[in-house]
Amino acid sequence: MQELKLQFLKELAAAKTAEALEAVRVKYMGKKGIITNFTKTKDLKTLSSEAKQAFYREYNDLKSFAADQLKKVVPAPGGAAAAAKKGGAIDLTAPGAGRRLGALHPITLTQIELEHIFEGMGFSVYYGPEVESEYFCFEALNIPSDHPARDMQDTFWLKNNLILRTHTSANQVRTILKAGAPLRAIFPGRCFRYEAIDPSHENTFYQCEGLVIDKNISVANLIAVMKTILGEVFRREVKVRLRPGFFPFVEPGFELDLNCLICGGKGCPTCGDGWIELIPCGLVHPEVLRHGGIDPNEYSGFAFGIGLTRLAMMKYGIRDIRYLNGGDLRVNEQFSTIL
Ligand code: DAH
Repeated sequence: MQELKLQFLKELAAAKTAEALEAVRVKYMGKKGIITNFTKTKDLKTLSSEAKQAFYREYNDLKSFAADQLKKVVPAPGGAAAAAKKGGAIDLTAPGAGRRLGALHPITLTQIELEHIFEGMGFSVYYGPEVESEYFCFEALNIPSDHPARDMQDTFWLKNNLILRTHTSANQVRTILKAGAPLRAIFPGRCFRYEAIDPSHENTFYQCEGLVIDKNISVANLIAVMKTILGEVFRREVKVRLRPGFFPFVEPGFELDLNCLICGGKGCPTCGDGWIELIPCGLVHPEVLRHGGIDPNEYSGFAFGIGLTRLAMMKYGIRDIRYLNGGDLRVNEQFSTIL
């Protein structure tokens, strides 16, 4: 079969005219073509069933390889060459071959939209590294070394003792050190956790962290910004609720939940009980400010960690997180008209 393939390629390469190419097509892949009828020339009865399977696998590969090669060089029947051969004109009204348009991924779309909205509110956008140090991911955020978030079960550790960041909060102190106070910034990006995958959990997901540091910042500022953002993203009134939540780098800390837009709050596999934990947030812990070289007596701030993947799922009604990293182009293609 290898020999046959080489022979076919050689003749294809040598064919310089449309007629010659067509002759190669007929010779190999036509009704009575050599490749088309290759199996008939072999006695397969003596082969074991495994050998037969292997043979057919190779044969099918050869056939689709040859078909692909021909498709690249032999004009489709009815195309310009056929028309020219018949001496007729080219039919300019015939539908064209069509070009496949690329599409931005729904998470990218959501990220771009968030960046625009935040930029409109005076925020800068920073992207930190995905491979991060333990210090910025945990220590600088007041997460002690015995905290469960550092557990081997949550964190991907690299051989050089760096880690894959488990949250975009890792950018908080990095950015404070770089930009100082006052500060208004978001840090969208990819995060990684050693997780079992199900409709709402992935080992690779996106967050959009936000950080505001200024004088006299309060919870009222935090809630006002969150409500504005969600209103802009969903372009309609959404129901949210605020619960106390614990995160070592904020005090007080909250969970801002969104009433599920897939089931309308009734409860479904995506949300569970009708509420999606969407934006954990709080007032920046004085310890974090200190790690950034900022005096907590002078400045205060708020921080939030938008679940960007979840936000995209809510916005576009995607029920299962596994679609997002699944690589099935039929998912992405549905978004090709959005931007
Ligand atoms: N980084 C946290 C996580 O991934 C989420 C978070 C909680 C971010 C509270 C914040 C915050 O900025 O204030 O679980």
